[in-house]
Amino acid sequence: MNSPSTELRESFGSRIGVIAAAAGSAIGLGNIWRFPYVTGENGGGAFLLVYLAFVIFIGVPVMLSEFVIGRRSQRNPVGAFKKLAPRTAWPLIGFIGITAAFTILAFYTTVSGWTLEYLYLSFVNGFGTAKKAELSTQFSNFVADGYRPLFWQLVFMLLTAYIVLKGIKNGIEKYTKILMPMLFLIIMLLVIRSVTLPNSYAGLVFLFKPDFSKITADVVIQALGQSFFSLSIGMGTLITYGSYINKKDQLGTTAISVSLADTLIAVLAGVAIFPAVFAFGIAPESGPSLVFITLPMIFSQMTGGQFFEIIFFILLAIAALTSTISVLEVVVAYLAEELKMSRKKATILASVSISILGILCTLSQGPLPELRIAGYSLFDALEKSSANIFLPIGGLFIVLFVGWKMKKEDVFDEITNQNTLKGRFKIIYLLIIRFAAPVAIALVFLNGLGIFGSGVEA
Ligand code: TRP
Repeated sequence: MNSPSTELRESFGSRIGVIAAAAGSAIGLGNIWRFPYVTGENGGGAFLLVYLAFVIFIGVPVMLSEFVIGRRSQRNPVGAFKKLAPRTAWPLIGFIGITAAFTILAFYTTVSGWTLEYLYLSFVNGFGTAKKAELSTQFSNFVADGYRPLFWQLVFMLLTAYIVLKGIKNGIEKYTKILMPMLFLIIMLLVIRSVTLPNSYAGLVFLFKPDFSKITADVVIQALGQSFFSLSIGMGTLITYGSYINKKDQLGTTAISVSLADTLIAVLAGVAIFPAVFAFGIAPESGPSLVFITLPMIFSQMTGGQFFEIIFFILLAIAALTSTISVLEVVVAYLAEELKMSRKKATILASVSISILGILCTLSQGPLPELRIAGYSLFDALEKSSANIFLPIGGLFIVLFVGWKMKKEDVFDEITNQNTLKGRFKIIYLLIIRFAAPVAIALVFLNGLGIFGSGVEA
């Protein structure tokens, strides 16, 4: 416990800071950009139900397990497994996490760059009285351009690297604490505007009325993937953040609060978006462009639209930023602790190498359509494989590790803060991570293995 690297470790300064940082990681483009469009593509209400079930029964336990591994080991994801299970193959899970960090950040910074362009656009003229057709051409022209998206992507990567360089307390924690509550307020405003649009009711029906005939193996795996992605689990982000959580803080309540906040924001984003989708006659299955067309439409219908638009895109960019820093932090913590690099060197190396993949990802949407994997553009391939493959596999091994490899006493010791807490749910938690969660993840996964097989080779 007293190796030099442990003494240098920072930790979060306060309980609220922990929740803000972890919620900051969880709440991001996954909630506001990805959740609505994946829900739209998968039929609405029924998808939402499956999604919620996964968050409660698998998401929360996986999140808690990551916190347990992190706080117990006081290490980055690779180092954590090395320390808790020396001379075994378990650290490979950490490496899968590092790989996932690369794939996620590559496409995530592409989309984060889009939010900066939209912020810029809302400053220069707003979307004024733009019609649906104009807004969708504007979006596809921008994405296809190649250079503008690249510019914004790199700006975003620089911002991320800057905050990560500043460290935990004065970087990550300081910013997230103020910004997350503001995001919530703005989303509430959008919700109000959206549900008061004519014909908005159809959108609420789409989102909340389950049509069970729509549930297929693919829908189920998409729901699992989305829940992992949105909660930031399965990759070691929360192992890393867990390692910065103070011994006094409660891991269980933290996992529950963070998951609740994340789910609330996703559902609110859905309520802001689907009524508008139906009111303006946009196809709910429009894919990644959905919110970039719908939201400007809502803004153009609001009094003071430009003002709200500016604030909204500022906050969306920030929500994205508090997520990207949490992903970059994983790679940086790994390089710094395991390969003994300085934090600065680690941050530069990580950001530059991730940017290379990120640039290819952005170009695959525009000037370099040849960049394809298994019939998908590089962007789509990274986006789908990270959420639907890497994260569930990571999550599966994380629960197996805590459930079967770690000593039960150690796990309980960690979640009850050395028996100072009652830990009323610890048996249920143990049963879930030993049996229910691994079986469920494995089943969903095997069942959905068709994801890359359904006619995409053409
Ligand atoms: N959860 C974030 C979002 O919804 C994205 C994210 C941050 C993430 N860290 C992660 C996803 C770790 C998976 C794993 O936008």
